[in-house]
Amino acid sequence: MTAPFDYKNNELHCEGVPLAKIAAEVGTPFYVYSRADLERAYNSFDAALEGIPHRICYAVKANSTLAILKVLIDLGAGADIVSYGELFRWQKAGGDPAKVVFSGVGKTEQEIKLALAAGIGCFNVESGEELLELDRIALAVGKLAKVSLRVNPDVDAGTHPYISTGLKTNKFGVSMEEARDLARTGAKLRGIELAGVDFHIGSQLTKTSPFADAIARLVALIQDLAKDGIKLTHIDIGGGLGIDYGKGEVIPSPAEYGVAVREALAPLLSMGLELYTEPGRVLVGAAGALVTRVLYRKRNEVKHFTLVDAAMNDLMRPALYGSHHPMKPVTNPGRPEIATDVVGPICETGDFFARDRNLPEMAQGELLWIGAAGAYGSTMASNYNTRPRVPEILVRGDKYTVIKPRETYEQLIAGERIS
Ligand code: LLP
Repeated sequence: MTAPFDYKNNELHCEGVPLAKIAAEVGTPFYVYSRADLERAYNSFDAALEGIPHRICYAVKANSTLAILKVLIDLGAGADIVSYGELFRWQKAGGDPAKVVFSGVGKTEQEIKLALAAGIGCFNVESGEELLELDRIALAVGKLAKVSLRVNPDVDAGTHPYISTGLKTNKFGVSMEEARDLARTGAKLRGIELAGVDFHIGSQLTKTSPFADAIARLVALIQDLAKDGIKLTHIDIGGGLGIDYGKGEVIPSPAEYGVAVREALAPLLSMGLELYTEPGRVLVGAAGALVTRVLYRKRNEVKHFTLVDAAMNDLMRPALYGSHHPMKPVTNPGRPEIATDVVGPICETGDFFARDRNLPEMAQGELLWIGAAGAYGSTMASNYNTRPRVPEILVRGDKYTVIKPRETYEQLIAGERIS
């Protein structure tokens, strides 16, 4: 299997397409994705769970561009959504609503009604009040809402505090004790079909042990409920498996994750439960990159800066989490390196992609590749500083398609009025 981004004759390509060719034809900055890598990632995750009856509900928030959803739909994916907007996208891309789970701590009445009308597969309920509200709305519209209770297993995922979600101090899910009570309540509600329990303990996990610990806790809960006569049909273990951001960390492979999950789940498999997962980053992260052009360089007494035409509004992760993304020049990588801050044009010191990064010294006008940007890149982009969102390109072999055009200035002000 070849890497999605590789040099051929000192020119960085996505599959068979030189990135410089896309830059010349589409302009910079742009996001570019490898279709083959999306397929590789999905198939290896799927293969890791082989033998366990399972459903992969792709976390749409990681990348919700319609053409990316379509690739995953064609591979058989379901979806994990956190808003009606994501369901709208999923259906526009041709996704089956029956394969959708709806997560999130704050679903509105309007979102619940639209999701019930669409016939989604399951609501991942995060509080007692939400459970009652869902029952009330389902009865009012004459539907039965299939429900899974999101449990907060109080497990430390060991990841960045902003993307760690499985601790008691986080706003997500209900405690194990409350889940027992809610399951008993839920089993009696006429608008609710209690089908499962779920968790999502955090994102960019670099160990498998927190998954195994959280599964063990839910296995105990499911066994207890079974003794009370409450039979569940699935367990949903969320997303969270990390990817390689080029920091030298060792990330468990999907196969290693599969082994840990299989072991922890063993006591349940004889009970006939189906496994649901909600991977986001691991399916789309490595397939995507942001390509940007160097505008200017400057040096003062203490620092060297490389100013590029992409900014924090295009890829927010470094500014928000201090996250590391790999970087390479698009041509001639084998040059002497210098330490530089790679920064964008936005009027904030937080607008950086890297600080004191050793990179081949880049000339004005050169292209820079910022890798591992397929997940939480385009979906977190904004129009800050009235910057149009960048185009997105999908590569297949030696062909590419613009799957989302660059926003126009007119689109930026559409619908606004002065008085
Ligand atoms: N399921 C639920 C309920 C979630 O909240 C999330 C992500 C996922 C699944 C997918 O997790 P993944 O497999 O992608 O780790 N913006 C941050 C990541 C926030 C993740 C939020 N929840 C970032 O750029 O790192």
